[in-house]
Amino acid sequence: MCGIVGYIGPKQAYPILLSGLKRLEYRGYDSAGIALLNGKNRIYKCKGKVSDLEKYVIGKDISGTVGIGHTRWATHGEPNDVNAHPHVSMNGIFTIIHNGIIENYSRLKKRLIDRGYTFKSDTDTEILVNLIEYIYLKGQVSAEIAVRLALTKVIGAFGILVTCTEEPDMIIAARKGSPLVVGVGDGEYFFASDATPIVEHTNRVVYLNDNDVAVVHREEITFKTIMNVKITPKIQKLDLDIGEIEKGGFDHFMLKEIFEQPRAIEDTFRGRISRNPFEIHLGGLYHIMDKLINAKRIIIIGCGTSWHAGLVGEYLFEELARIPVEVEYASEFRYRNPVILSDDVIIAISQSGETADTLAAIKLAKEQGATVIGICNVVGSSIPRLTHAGVYTHAGPEIGVASTKAFTAQVTVLSMMAMLLGHERKTISDKNYQILVEELVNIPAKIEQILKESNKIKQIAELYKNSNNCLYLGRGYLFPVALEGALKLKEISYIHAEGYPAAEMKHGPIALIDEHMPVFVIAAKDKSYDKIVSNIQEVKARKGIVIAIVSEGDTVIRKLADHVMEVPLADESLAPLLAVIPLQLLSYYIAVLRGCNVDQPRNLAKSVTVE
Ligand code: G6P
Repeated sequence: MCGIVGYIGPKQAYPILLSGLKRLEYRGYDSAGIALLNGKNRIYKCKGKVSDLEKYVIGKDISGTVGIGHTRWATHGEPNDVNAHPHVSMNGIFTIIHNGIIENYSRLKKRLIDRGYTFKSDTDTEILVNLIEYIYLKGQVSAEIAVRLALTKVIGAFGILVTCTEEPDMIIAARKGSPLVVGVGDGEYFFASDATPIVEHTNRVVYLNDNDVAVVHREEITFKTIMNVKITPKIQKLDLDIGEIEKGGFDHFMLKEIFEQPRAIEDTFRGRISRNPFEIHLGGLYHIMDKLINAKRIIIIGCGTSWHAGLVGEYLFEELARIPVEVEYASEFRYRNPVILSDDVIIAISQSGETADTLAAIKLAKEQGATVIGICNVVGSSIPRLTHAGVYTHAGPEIGVASTKAFTAQVTVLSMMAMLLGHERKTISDKNYQILVEELVNIPAKIEQILKESNKIKQIAELYKNSNNCLYLGRGYLFPVALEGALKLKEISYIHAEGYPAAEMKHGPIALIDEHMPVFVIAAKDKSYDKIVSNIQEVKARKGIVIAIVSEGDTVIRKLADHVMEVPLADESLAPLLAVIPLQLLSYYIAVLRGCNVDQPRNLAKSVTVE
């Protein structure tokens, strides 16, 4: 949450900052702002999106070769012009942009008020910038020392960029708990919350670790810790193509990402599945494979869509590898004093690799001796750096706030892990292993088939775009898909939607069913097929509208349901990878027809780096 960018070098900073902010807007879009240093410090900021900022600066002086920019997801203080970043210290010496939360802000604020400081905004960030200035003036120290000392007083999370009018050829960057990447160019440096704004300028980056500070002058960069211990930076080469982070002819990133899924899944298993015979290789797990094979229990943690992928993982691991699995919201796990044993394996799932609750849950599990595996999409993000082992999903950058290809890529990784583990533990036969891996390899082509039917899904979206409530039902492997379908709809179209295990309908949601209630039933051919047919009959008996996702060739449900969307046949353990596609498309089309901002739904952010 919150995107931060910065530039120092020979070029004009404004265009670089602006295009960077546009790339980071998925992280938050409550307000946007920039600060440019050119003799004097100029701040332009306003409520709304980066496009509003762009209009706001028309006709203003945007020159300057040092600058910082911010796009905000509000935590402290409502989204308005005053609370927008950057924030400037009371005497105008320091300017800051910040991603994170200062938890002890009220104590620090009181101390500063006692020392004569006044505040304009309701943000915690303004307290930090004034604390830096107070230390700078009072201690007669350099800007760098003032920043580092101030950060030792802060409890909470931060990714910050700071400029100082009295040392104008410098940007100071620091992080703790919120991501920050420094791009190393030719006599120029770039800063951003993730690598996407940097890749068009340089492919050499340094990912800051917690408590790292980068002090960047025009032609020189120094890395140290907040406690002033020098660090030798690890410069990494970005393996990211600019085309991957552009819309590529699609109207929205979300649509592009839905259509990218065949390719994304192939990238997920590229180099990890060999043929004749089929075999799965997960290099990132080799060194902990014994732990995994002998695990007494697997606990899967995640948030949002990643948690839904985890639920699919539970069904997969229990069925194929016969290991008991629990799936937990990271936010609950970290605070409820869970029993974690040293032979537990924790699997943390996260697209961004930065979700604050998931990170905290991992730290807790590690402290208690468990082995932690990460399944993440963003290479170099915090979670892969914190876990003992991991498997990247390699789905490519996901920009649309509502997760789509990350989900199917996560489920692909979980499927590979469960198949491999089942084979190693001999809970599935060699023959079944071969069949399952081959089925997985065939999934991308089957998704292509579903995507070809997108026009039919659009027609159904037209019919139900004005619904106020929707119910999603599924059983077995398709229950998590019901949850994910409902989440997609509410996230981007603001229609209230609930996902339920189909059999639970009669314990409550059935009371809601009438002739106005669309009920999406995910009913591919599997062992609960007959049961879900009965559930459909129960809905129809109460005049509910049934839109069913069925396996191709289905004739029984076709007769009962108001509409059907077909998906190709697949082994039931892989059915989620297919059944979720029409639901993603349906939510997308409904949201577009309702005029919603699909890629940037209100109040949400892609990467939730605050708890
Ligand atoms: C936010 C995003 C969701 C995502 C969730 C978990 O809520 O809007 O799309 O599923 O965070 O994010 P992660 O990066 O940990 O998968």
